[in-house]
Amino acid sequence: MNFKALQEQKTREVEAVLKAYLPRPEGYQKEIMEAMEYSLLAGGKRLRPLLMRETFLMFGGTGKIIEPFMAALEMIHTYSLVHDDLPAMDNDEYRRGRKTTHVVYGEAMGILAGDALLNYAFETALKAFDTAPEKMPEAGKALQILARKAGIYGMIGGQTVDVAQSGKSLDRDMLDFIYALKTGALIEAAMMVGAVLAGASEEQVKTVEKIAGDIGLAFQIEDDILDVTSTTEELGKPVHSDEKNEKTTYVTIRGLAGAREDAAAVSREAVELLEGLGYENPFLVWLVGELVHRKK
Ligand code: IPE
Ligand code: IPE
Ligand code: MG
Ligand code: MG
Ligand code: MG
Repeated sequence: MNFKALQEQKTREVEAVLKAYLPRPEGYQKEIMEAMEYSLLAGGKRLRPLLMRETFLMFGGTGKIIEPFMAALEMIHTYSLVHDDLPAMDNDEYRRGRKTTHVVYGEAMGILAGDALLNYAFETALKAFDTAPEKMPEAGKALQILARKAGIYGMIGGQTVDVAQSGKSLDRDMLDFIYALKTGALIEAAMMVGAVLAGASEEQVKTVEKIAGDIGLAFQIEDDILDVTSTTEELGKPVHSDEKNEKTTYVTIRGLAGAREDAAAVSREAVELLEGLGYENPFLVWLVGELVHRKK
């Protein structure tokens, strides 16, 4: 099986879901819908919705209930990037191969576009109650996970400590805390929501949370590595952003070789745990392993 080709096909399917759930630009507030579309439909890797759907399929999930949640999570992730790039945060001018939202639409619209994506994410996820009314309990549980992992105990919490610690030297425990929240939490949400909507048991969802936490850490270490080894053209976002913002990263603490080792070790643990669940999804196993070899 050519997994690369399968990934491309599945990514296009995610794109179609995202397009289907985006609001049509109209009314006096039309500019905000345009800015949402500008940031959301730029070329992201769509990792989180992919992981969500593959986890759902692995646990035997069927039907369309997963789709509003896939769109919602990518909206939350995209909003986190729009705000992360603002002058008050990482102050970056490129994202997903184009000018950042605040550069094109101005800072006020950039802030509002992020707010809008976050709110619209929950409006979108709530559509699951109409899509699959018979799955209300599962959808309710999935919404709880999504809300918590996006918030102060999740991504926002991690970004808070990340911003507060800029310019300071951190130890590995503190860095792991930041990564678990700023990056791990949304990846945990992706896979946990997929599992919950497919009817996985509480114990299985706990294991999935651990697997996704490992994936998130490996993913962020790789992001640190790419920040110093890649190019803006390849990444679609500025390289050396961490150095510019005086961030402690896995590369500054462990060096390039050490960071690579750490990413590989955590990724291996994720794959082992995933296989240990005893379900079949070779594409998902491949995808998880592939993330530490990615080029962008
Ligand atoms: C970027 O996430 C922010 C991090 C958590 C490292 P991605 O690397 O998934 O960004 P896109 O969605 O592909 O643009
Ligand atoms: C941000 O981490 C993670 C988010 C929650 C947005 P980074 O600041 O390293 O992400 P990039 O490198 O700008 O994508
Ligand atoms: Mg940042
Ligand atoms: Mg950044
Ligand atoms: Mg980065």
